Amino acid sequence: MDNWSLGDIEVVSRAIVSAPSVHGTQPWDLRLEGTRAEIRERTEFTSAPRFTDVSPADRVISCGTGIANVELAMHALGRKIETDLLPYPRQPDLVATIRTVGSAPASSTELRLFSALARRRSHRETFADIPVPAATIGDIVAAARIGGVATTLLAPDEAHALADVLLYSADRIRHDPRHQRDIFSWTSHWLPQVGRESVDAFHSAVTREVSDPVITREVSDPVRLAAAIESETVLVFASDTQEPIDLLRTGIAVERAWLTAVDARLSASVLSHPLRIEDSAQRLAQRLNLTSHPQLILRIGY
Ligand SMILES: Cc1cc2nc3c(=O)[nH]c(=O)nc-3n(C[C@H](O)[C@H](O)[C@H](O)COP(=O)(O)O)c2cc1C
Repeated sequence: MDNWSLGDIEVVSRAIVSAPSVHGTQPWDLRLEGTRAEIRERTEFTSAPRFTDVSPADRVISCGTGIANVELAMHALGRKIETDLLPYPRQPDLVATIRTVGSAPASSTELRLFSALARRRSHRETFADIPVPAATIGDIVAAARIGGVATTLLAPDEAHALADVLLYSADRIRHDPRHQRDIFSWTSHWLPQVGRESVDAFHSAVTREVSDPVITREVSDPVRLAAAIESETVLVFASDTQEPIDLLRTGIAVERAWLTAVDARLSASVLSHPLRIEDSAQRLAQRLNLTSHPQLILRIGY
């Protein structure tokens, strides 16, 4: 198979920049060498003020979504590929190498998912009141199947467990001015009308001083939030370990599932921030009887 042409470079580069990433940070570096693609994690920007609260786990998961898109682009270019994931002890920032090992026409599924790249975007609003067919949910879960990651459909009677954990996270960060955007970002997924502002004082736990009033967001009551969650299709992605390899696989699984949903004319959005607050991920695992580590929530609808 030939080295990269200018057209190939354009296709692969466009594919990776269309991948979802935490805060839209695109924390990857793509290099096209010979007939292979190398993806590195970019860490140099993490000390910039806007990104200091981006969790390392979310950065690695984001590299995984980028890998899924590069794989699809290489399939679409008629390349047969093999992917090697980290570790690369001599190059710690290298997270994946995707090698061309021959040529093969892309399957119709690969071509459909590739064409879904341009239509995928985060839909942080309510969905139409139309249930997602069970067969479509089955296809989405099957697309996410990869070793090291468990994808679970939230059962209706588990909605209150997720609501409780979201409210627990919100309560933990509610008075911290640095996190105001985060609370808003998750309440807006399920209850866009929530998010009224109230003025409150910020009590420093360390100095015991009371600061100038800060704006806090109203958080919803558990019953309303649970009802909103129950009315939607929600998948929980959990990794077997917290190791980078399983986080990368989580990103691959999430992107494959998301693109499969888009291909089925659905919209979706993801949430990870609430699961990064204190012990909220463990709490969710306990409530859902999961032995793995919840990393990300995907909500899907029309
Ligand atoms: C690992 C990861 C974590 C994310 N966490 C959140 C989140 O907690 N809340 C949210 O609203 N969006 C979250 N997103 C979505 C990104 O903000 C979104 O993909 C990015 O801003 C690009 O926008 P787009 O998805 O519309 O292309 C996350 C995405 C990734 C890959």
